[in-house]
Amino acid sequence: MTIKRLHHYNAVFLLLFIVAHITNHMIGLVGIENHIAIMDMLRVVYRVQVIEIAVFILFFSQIALGLGLILKRGMPRVRWAWIQAISGVYIAFFFLLQHLSAVIMMRLTYAQLDTNFYWAASVVQANPMGWYFFPYYAFGIMSIFAHLTAAIHFRWPDAVILRPVLLASGVVLGLAIPASLIGSFYEVSLPQEYLDYLRDTYPSWLVTQN
Ligand code: HEM
Ligand code: HEM
Repeated sequence: MTIKRLHHYNAVFLLLFIVAHITNHMIGLVGIENHIAIMDMLRVVYRVQVIEIAVFILFFSQIALGLGLILKRGMPRVRWAWIQAISGVYIAFFFLLQHLSAVIMMRLTYAQLDTNFYWAASVVQANPMGWYFFPYYAFGIMSIFAHLTAAIHFRWPDAVILRPVLLASGVVLGLAIPASLIGSFYEVSLPQEYLDYLRDTYPSWLVTQN
C-alpha cells in the first residue's frame, strides 16, 4: 500500500469526524444550547475511550503521511498542488498539532473542565490572546476546505461548480465559527470555571477580558 493510498483511506475515516465536528460548530452559529446538545450526542460515539484514542492516532498518522507525501512529491508544479501542500502544512504545524495537544492536555491535566463551546470561546475572547486564536481557528477551517477542494480538483476535474462552492464555504465558516465564539451573533458570557481556567493556565497579561 502506498503512502498516498493510506492518506486517502485515512482521510475517508477522518472526514466522518471532521464533518460531524464542523457541523456541530455550525449549529453553534445559532445558539449554544443546541450546539452543546448535539455535542453531547456526538460524544456518545467519539468519547468512547477506544474510539477517541483511535481518532487521535489516526489524525497524528495523517499528519505524518501528509508530510511523507510532500517529501516524496518534491516541489509542487501546479497551482492546486501548491494549495494542497500549503494547506497541509498549515493543518499539520499551525493547527492540528496544537489543537490535538490542547485536547489531550485538558484530558490529562484539567479533566474537571468540560471542553465544550465555552472552552474554545474562552481563548478566543481573551485579550490579547484572541488576536492569535481567532485567525488560528479561521485558517484551520479554511485550510481543511482548501485541502479537500484540491483533492476534488485532482480526482474529479469536471466538478467545476463544487470547487468554488467549497472554497467559499471554507471562507464563510472560517470567519463565522470563531465570530460565534466571540459573541458576534448572540451574547456569550463565559461561566466562572472558564475564567478560572484562563487564569490558572495562561500568564495574566495574555488573558484580560474585554
Ligand atoms: C485532517 C487531515 C487531512 C485530511 C482529511 C486530508 C485529506 C486528503 C485527501 C482526501 C487527499 C487526496 C487523496 C487522493 O486523492 O487520493 C489528500 C492529499 C494530500 N494531502 Fe492531505 N489530508 C490531511 C492532512 C494532510 C497534512 C497534514 C498534509 C501535509 C503536511 C497533507 C498533505 C497532502 C498532500 C501532499 C496530498 C497530495 C497527495 C498526492 O497527490 O500525491 N495532508 N489529503
Ligand atoms: C473553529 C474550528 C474548531 C473549533 C472551535 C474546535 C473546537 C473543539 C472543541 C471545543 C473540542 C473538544 C470537544 C469535546 O470535548 O467533545 C475539539 C476537539 C477536537 N477537535 Fe476541534 N475545533 C475546530 C476545528 C477542528 C478541525 C478543523 C479539526 C480537524 C481537522 C478538529 C479536530 C478535533 C479533534 C480530533 C478533537 C478531539 C475530539 C475528542 O475529544 O476525541 N477540530 N475541538
